[in-house]
Amino acid sequence: MTRNDFSRRRFIRDGAVASAAAWAAPAALSAATHPSNADYLEVGLPKADLLTPALCVDLDALEGNIDTMQSTVSANGIGVRPHTKTHKTPAIAHLQMARGAVGICTAKLTEAEVMFEHGLDEILLTTPNVSAAKLRRAMQLRRRCDGFVQAVDTEANARDLDAAAREAGIIADIVVDVDPGGHRTGVTAGEPALALAQLVDRSANLRLRGMLCYDGGAQHVSGFAARRTRAIEGLAPAAETFSRMQQSGLNVEIFSGGGTGTYNIDHATPGFTDVQGGSYVFLDAQYLGIGGEDDDDTYNDFRPSLTILTTVVNAQYEGRATTDAGAKSCTINRPWSIVVGETGMSYTSGSDEFGTVRYENPSRIYQAADRLELIVSHCDPVVNLYDKMYATRNDRVEAVWPIACRGRNQ
Ligand SMILES: Cc1ncc(COP(=O)(O)O)c(C=O)c1O
Repeated sequence: MTRNDFSRRRFIRDGAVASAAAWAAPAALSAATHPSNADYLEVGLPKADLLTPALCVDLDALEGNIDTMQSTVSANGIGVRPHTKTHKTPAIAHLQMARGAVGICTAKLTEAEVMFEHGLDEILLTTPNVSAAKLRRAMQLRRRCDGFVQAVDTEANARDLDAAAREAGIIADIVVDVDPGGHRTGVTAGEPALALAQLVDRSANLRLRGMLCYDGGAQHVSGFAARRTRAIEGLAPAAETFSRMQQSGLNVEIFSGGGTGTYNIDHATPGFTDVQGGSYVFLDAQYLGIGGEDDDDTYNDFRPSLTILTTVVNAQYEGRATTDAGAKSCTINRPWSIVVGETGMSYTSGSDEFGTVRYENPSRIYQAADRLELIVSHCDPVVNLYDKMYATRNDRVEAVWPIACRGRNQ
């Protein structure tokens, strides 16, 4: 059994217990979840020698994407608080922090726990916790992690947070989650959000830190001008609310929101402090088609860095080939994965274990055992299918990164 197997078993075991017991032995847990690259036989191999399907990230493209995001937001006078729900990989979160991020976001409490175990300690959990069990466990994390900030979107939830913090003997840091209009989560902007912020401020065991407003609907609007208008209009009620919170003397140092599609727009919203970009690190097929400021057809601000390597397993029928990467490796999200370097073929992954290539006007016909590389359809759910990703440079494996938050969706 390799150390990596051991750490995975340990994760599974601790996950199954899913209790505060995981916190009892942080040092041991930490050692078990930090396998060194020496444990991976693949380090140094050419990509061509990897078993497939394999999830690969090109380091030059990844680092370039992180630098583009950081330099743009810095030039615009705001920060980036990367959403790590996208990559679920502590190694990437550390790269983002080292290059200037103000902290990280997580979507789930258990992601936040794992990120903290891996040394990330400025964490904004963007999803409100509502069950008693989660509230208790979130307060255990807050007890250990001074930089852990939680979201609230109802007055009842604020009272529950206050009670859980009191029970844990701590003061919990809170941002008010404001609904941009999509009604997914968040309190209504204006009076309801202001009243909630005031309630948090009055609560003896809570500390108000500011506001969160993520307008998911704005991110994939096609065309830069339309996206800009939608994003600014969408955030306007939240901006007005933020200003009222400031005028009432509330402590609102955070106004976080936005993402990959609006990262170079959000600074135009008054008071806005940081972009919660997630997908920009990988840039998937869903984002490629939205168009950028300089190119109406292709979003080329960032480069696709995340690919799935797959092998042709059957090429004996005309007009098609079958690969080893189906729904379990690619998901069934649309648009389908894009074959790198090919325009004259389509790739579908509707079948569990197999992908289907159909030729229209290909540059070549593939044979069994040939490799194809796919730009992923939608990065977040694809990453969640793999235990590790191969970090490559010039098509050689430079590091193997455990996707430590994979499956941590609680
Ligand atoms: C609350 C929140 N913030 C930020 C993001 C990141 O968005 P993107 O991947 O489009 O950059 C998401 C993605 O769904 C989100 O739910």
